[in-house]
Amino acid sequence: MSIAIKEREIPVNRRRFLYFIGWGFIGVFLTTVLGTVVRFFYPRTILEPPTRYTIGYPFQYTTGVSERFKKQFRIWIIREVDKLYVIEAKCTHLGCTPNWLAAEGKFKCPCHGSGFTPEGLNIEGPAPRPLERFKVALDDNGQIIVDEGIRFRGERGEWNKTGAFLKV
Ligand code: FES
Repeated sequence: MSIAIKEREIPVNRRRFLYFIGWGFIGVFLTTVLGTVVRFFYPRTILEPPTRYTIGYPFQYTTGVSERFKKQFRIWIIREVDKLYVIEAKCTHLGCTPNWLAAEGKFKCPCHGSGFTPEGLNIEGPAPRPLERFKVALDDNGQIIVDEGIRFRGERGEWNKTGAFLKV
């Protein structure tokens, strides 16, 4: 009697097993399809920092080199007596980030030893040309806008062009 019951239970368990396996496959399939559809609405993009941004007002910068935005935007803000400009903190040799050595009054690249004046001129090491400057302008509120899309290169005589510096 008990054997007969067990014989009947086996097919039921097998049917249940196949039932769950079948729904499992359908579930995996539907999840994959749904995932693909959802992914379609999120384009593959790399989030990069903006190339146009504000860095405060000219009066916030005293004469000399400011490292206020070096970490955030990889720039130095240079304030001279009557002008202000922005230098990209990227060595023109192989692209390392130089350090500002205030005591020596120069930028020094830790990778291969290139040195630059506070204006960005290459004075030592393998760097083949001066550091590059970004376009600067004032917005409607008087804040300084930096535009990394427009560069000025010293070896081409571009540092005196409109946008290469701000009169302050
Ligand atoms: S990357 Fe700066 S000296 Fe080589």
